[in-house]
This record gives sequence, structure tokens and C-alpha cells, in this order.
Amino acid sequence: MRVTETEMTDALLDWYDRHARIMPWRTGPAERSAGARPDPYRVWLSEVMLQQTTVAAVKKYHDRFTALWPTVADLAAASDADVMAEWAGLGYYARARNLLKCARAVVADHEGRFPDKHDALIALPGIGPYTAAAVAAIAFDRPETVVDGNVERVMSRLYDVETPMPAAKPELVAHAARLTSRARPGDHAQAVMDLGATICTPRRPACGICPLRDPCLARLHGTQAERPVKPPKKAKPHRRGYAYVGRSAKGDWLVETRPNKGLLGGMLGFPGSDWSDEPQPAPPAPAAWREVGEATHTFTHFHLTLSVMVAELPPSNPERGHFMAADAFRPAALPTLMRKVHDAAAPHLSVERPRAAG
Ligand code: ADE
Repeated sequence: MRVTETEMTDALLDWYDRHARIMPWRTGPAERSAGARPDPYRVWLSEVMLQQTTVAAVKKYHDRFTALWPTVADLAAASDADVMAEWAGLGYYARARNLLKCARAVVADHEGRFPDKHDALIALPGIGPYTAAAVAAIAFDRPETVVDGNVERVMSRLYDVETPMPAAKPELVAHAARLTSRARPGDHAQAVMDLGATICTPRRPACGICPLRDPCLARLHGTQAERPVKPPKKAKPHRRGYAYVGRSAKGDWLVETRPNKGLLGGMLGFPGSDWSDEPQPAPPAPAAWREVGEATHTFTHFHLTLSVMVAELPPSNPERGHFMAADAFRPAALPTLMRKVHDAAAPHLSVERPRAAG
């Protein structure tokens, strides 16, 4: 018997009523039906953090951000350096720079309240079609179709879509739009994402307990493992470079804030060379630099190996970067690559503590 779209939407919402994941920024289905509404600031913050990052990794950052900056006005008033330092480790640092721009625009242009419509949301810095739809649906219950990687996977299986990604996207969006609940759009958006994250998983989906198992065409055809059809994988190139970790005799660290444009833009780091097939050494100050190890990291488009160079530096002005006092320097404020560089270098740069008198 054919299952209608309305029946699929109802089955999904029934499942969500029983199995919604609890998240610090989420208003669950029972609270929502009792009239509670989520805080748009917390929803927006979660959606920006969740792009390319798992719920498990985001929770702790979301808790910390909302403890430090409970409202969008608090975040707008924070310094760039403080926000970048708290974002360290989440990756995709352009998100953090845009986060601040957006918070400041909400305060300057919208009296500190997030607009409740897609068109006004998408006009804000750093808010693209996905985030605008997610915030409009989840925070304001607007009937928007929210499509992330989870939703794409669910739709590609439910309708057994054979077109490879990313060409299949418009088709998947059209399927998702037809299923979107007009009565409960906020719950619906989160229901499809939860289904994709917990049941319709990339590997070994739990079809036996899926609320959409009967209408699912991939299940019928046994093609779940091949949906969505992936594009051919491009090999990631391998780049190399040098990173220079210097300390003064009193233990200050030579660091630099990276330019806003480019990878790790706006983040604190150690001076270094270009990253390429044949990087040119580029010490930031004349000194007896010695290589103590390597730091490796994989970015979206390439693998990187940095030779980690260390030296004790005279207190004179370096050609690049600035000295940061040891008690102000927090390795946790470094992006992951730079933290790996720090961890490789630090044991070779211990400064002698002055002996306690007496
Ligand atoms: N992934 C991104 N946003 C999400 C949300 N609101 N609920 C569940 N998973 C998500």
C-alpha cells in the first residue's frame, strides 16, 4: 500500500515526540507543544557551530559561549581575540569571525533581536541559506525546508535517488520540501536531522526501527549503503611548511595573529613559512633554529606536515609576530594545528624557573 507524504510526516513527528535528542539549545517537542519557544540566539549559535561539526563536539563550546556571553548583545560586545580564543579547536575559523559580525549587526540594526523571517536572516553576515532556514524554522516555527547532510542522506534513501552528489541536491531539496510539516516546522526540521544522525546513519543504518521503513525505497531495493551516490573522491595533495616556536630567556612566547583572510584567519599561531611542495624557510628572527619534530594536520582540501623549529630568542624586536608573556599564553586558545606545533615544541623549550629564595 502506498504511504502518502502526510503519513510519512506524521510518522516522523510521532517518532520525534518519543525520541528527540536533548540538546542544551533545544526546546523539546513536549515543551514546544506547551507553548515554550527556544531562544533564537542560542539556536543561531548552535546552528553556526554545528556546520561541519558533530553535536557531541559542539555541546561543550555552546555551554561555554552562552556562559560567557548569555545574550547576543554580550557576544557583540566581546573582543575579537576573546571570541577567537574560545572558538579554538572547532575549526573553520571564518565561522567565528562571521559570528561576531552577525552578533554586532543584530545589535546595530535589529535592536538586539534576531529577525524572524528567512529574507532578513539571510541578509545578516555569515548566515547562508541553510542557517537562515534552520533559524526561521527552529526558533520561529516558520515553514522552511532545512537541508543539511543528514537530511540529504535521508531523502536520497527514502526516494532511492540515483543521481550522484552534488548534482542530486535540487532533487533532494524538492523531496524534503514536500515532506515539510506546515503545522510543526521547527520540530519537523529537527526530526529529520535526528533521524539522519541516529537511525539513517551513513554506515549500518538501523532500518529495522526506522519510522519510515515501510515507504523507504532504498530499503525496498537494498541500496541503502549506496545512497547518497558519492562523487568520485579527489586525492588530497600533501603540503609542507615550517613553523617557528621561539621563547625569550624569561619564557615569553613569540606568537602572531594570522591575517583575517585565509586558513586559520584571525587565529593566534606561530610564525611560519608558506605551505607548498617546496616551502622556503622563513625564520621570524635571527637565531639558532633547530628542528625538533613534525606536526601533521588534515584540512578539507590538503594534508599538511610542518617541520617544528625551536630557538631561544633575544628579547629584541622580531621581524614577525610579538612576544606574549608566559602567564597570558594559553595553548587551548590555539587552533588544533598550532596546538600540535606547540605540543611538539614545548618540551624542547622549557625555561628554567627562577629558584625560590631561601
Ligand atoms: N545538526 C545541525 N543542526 C541540528 C539540529 N538543530 N538538530 C539536530 N542536528 C542538527
